[in-house]
Amino acid sequence: MIKSKKFKAPATSANLGPGFDCLGLALPFYDELEVFWSDNLSDKFDYDQLVELQGRYIDVPNDNRNLLYKLIDNELIQNGFGAVKFHLRCVNSIPHARGLGSSSAAIILSLKAADAILNDLTKGTQRVNIFSRALEIEGHGDNVAPCFYGGCQLVTLNSEVVQIPVHKNLKALVQVNSEPCSTKDAREALPKQIFRSLAVKNTASVATLIMALINGDNELLFQGTEDFVHQDFRKNVYPESLNRVKKLRELGIATAISGAGSTIISLKFGNFGDLSKIVHHENNEKWEVLHFGL
Ligand code: HSE
Repeated sequence: MIKSKKFKAPATSANLGPGFDCLGLALPFYDELEVFWSDNLSDKFDYDQLVELQGRYIDVPNDNRNLLYKLIDNELIQNGFGAVKFHLRCVNSIPHARGLGSSSAAIILSLKAADAILNDLTKGTQRVNIFSRALEIEGHGDNVAPCFYGGCQLVTLNSEVVQIPVHKNLKALVQVNSEPCSTKDAREALPKQIFRSLAVKNTASVATLIMALINGDNELLFQGTEDFVHQDFRKNVYPESLNRVKKLRELGIATAISGAGSTIISLKFGNFGDLSKIVHHENNEKWEVLHFGL
């Protein structure tokens, strides 16, 4: 018998300035996955491609090289169900290689799908521990935590996840750079060691950010979104994005690079007001502006 299940996973913005590799925020737009599987090897599937791709971002393989396909297949093999047939329908709304967590969304969606298949085939005796597997695959939890749990999440040194109770009325203005940015290049640009003075400033900044998010304080939010440990070291990887962050910060807008770039994110409690006009009219063709209430 052919069975199916649908899932969705949100875009996420990691770091939020100083929260490098440990802090991230879910944004209300989603990738979707529908998985079809058969519990009978002789069942025939009626589909053209192994992976049907829909939505805006379909520049990815539609065969067994597809990331979601590979991740699901791998979980099934590891659990002794490598012979199970399945196919996928993906609706991709999160841009790729822009620092909006598309690979974390792919990981979470795949693990949910693998879990659904295993749960069905084993009558619940074999399950996927979705979050801990996602953390293992991704290596750091700043995207996978908010992607899986929603909201704003802090990943502790013990890999525990703590939800930051963000004050209501937080708004995000996300500017997606049309140029992609490789996370690998961005990580390679980082120095192995940093001066204590930068570490001290970053510690103060991230603590300020957490307080700002909880208290809904825009002044603290501006101070607390200043990073000292990654953005400047990556200036050659995303020069235009970093310039735009600096320009907006000069205007007093709490802005940071989203994840490893190239998107930038501005945060504010309440309305951005005239900022929307500034970002809409400047370099309009290069930047796509998305505005969210969170
Ligand atoms: N924190 C990561 C980085 C990106 O800035 O390299 C998201 O996982």
